[in-house]
Amino acid sequence: MPQLANALAYLEQQLTVSLAEISAIAASFHAAIGSGLAGEKSSLTMLPAHLGKPTGQEQGHFLALDFGGTTIRVLLVELDGQQGFHLINRRAAPLKDDWGQYNYVSPQSSATALFDFIASQIAGLVDDNTFYALGHTFSYPTRQTGCNNAILLNWTKEINTPGVIGQDINTLLFAALKRRGLPLVVPQVIINDTVGTLLAAAYQDQHTDIGSICGTGHNTAYLEPHPPWTKQPMIINLESGNFDQLSFTMYDQQLDQTSEQPGQQRLEKMVSGRYIGELLRFILVALLRNGLFTDCAAAFAALDQPNILTGQDVAVLLADDSPPYEAIACWLTHRLGLTTSKLKDRAALKAVASLLATRSARLITATYLGILQHIDPTLQRCHNIGIDGSLYEKLPGYANTIETTFTQCLQEKASQITVTLTKDGSGIGAAIATAIVQKSQCNKTPLSIKDTEGTT
Ligand code: BGC
Repeated sequence: MPQLANALAYLEQQLTVSLAEISAIAASFHAAIGSGLAGEKSSLTMLPAHLGKPTGQEQGHFLALDFGGTTIRVLLVELDGQQGFHLINRRAAPLKDDWGQYNYVSPQSSATALFDFIASQIAGLVDDNTFYALGHTFSYPTRQTGCNNAILLNWTKEINTPGVIGQDINTLLFAALKRRGLPLVVPQVIINDTVGTLLAAAYQDQHTDIGSICGTGHNTAYLEPHPPWTKQPMIINLESGNFDQLSFTMYDQQLDQTSEQPGQQRLEKMVSGRYIGELLRFILVALLRNGLFTDCAAAFAALDQPNILTGQDVAVLLADDSPPYEAIACWLTHRLGLTTSKLKDRAALKAVASLLATRSARLITATYLGILQHIDPTLQRCHNIGIDGSLYEKLPGYANTIETTFTQCLQEKASQITVTLTKDGSGIGAAIATAIVQKSQCNKTPLSIKDTEGTT
């Protein structure tokens, strides 16, 4: 047992992000924003969204497509023009089915197959003979020269459909809609999900200037008061999941090396739902070697499969608050095939899950602090941060850790910051973006943007 206790103590030391580290990360994130804006080498790509903030008075009916991860959602949204919205109808479909019948996000698929499937899902929600203005939330790094074009720079979240990188996404979508006999469904805008979340949160609270996703993936957008490309404030997608000035544990290195794109999305790989279960798996294997569980052959075998653990597993471990940790015992039986386990072992599992979740929330807060240092260094104004995503919404204690970390770092100035769950923000945001574009007939002249593609 002392071996396990030592291993846990070492892990705690490795995974704890101290206040001094948070402050250093915030400072380097702030510096990376400056370099990215100046077109210098930076792990933050700083992608312009070509949109500003909504007024809250946008109104109308819109079709929204939310292409975020392995599930796509189609929504019919009504904006009431008074900061309110109503979901008239919705449908969702996985891009990869659990029984292996189809998988549109694998290297064996194609752009045509992927977008034809998406068009078929849209067909399920619209009438053939009605015109629909469609807002598309596409949650991957894209280079935009206007609000209705977006060239995919690279896939993330382990998606790997060939033939899409370098293509204009709404052109692919519109072609598929036409093939499907839906030429009256017209894509009018394309945004990142962080931009959608910012728009949806700002529609209801004008203090919002940051939108973030803490879910399968991680990323943040903010309202840049002085963008280098135009005089108007503009929302910028940071692609902060790619931030890399961080201390990596051996587990982070192991995960990165076994991922689709080693060296990229380093922050995302430390914090997001797509990867947190895999980090847990690597750590549990190491703890098994250090005396976790007496009879661990079954657990070794179960943990031998990559990606077998997910963010939901972390949530189950975190939710069980009190000894004898019966839910954890039950989880052990179902997930690792262990029928008996000691209380100390169950507590160890809970501790590991908690260390990983706390690290995620604290690292993300450090990046928010970096953005705040850039837009309002002395915190003269109130700022609302809208967040959507399963980690923020569902991981026990996650939202609270973000708030506590703000308080520890900013003390009384923390009262200037509010953080709100912006549920369905990415889809609602696409409707708001479409309304903004229709009203302003958004500047369609391509802007001259410094090429920072090599820095992703
Ligand atoms: C993508 C971002 C996206 C985030 C959250 C990341 O993998 O690169 O564009 O905003 O996931 O969905």
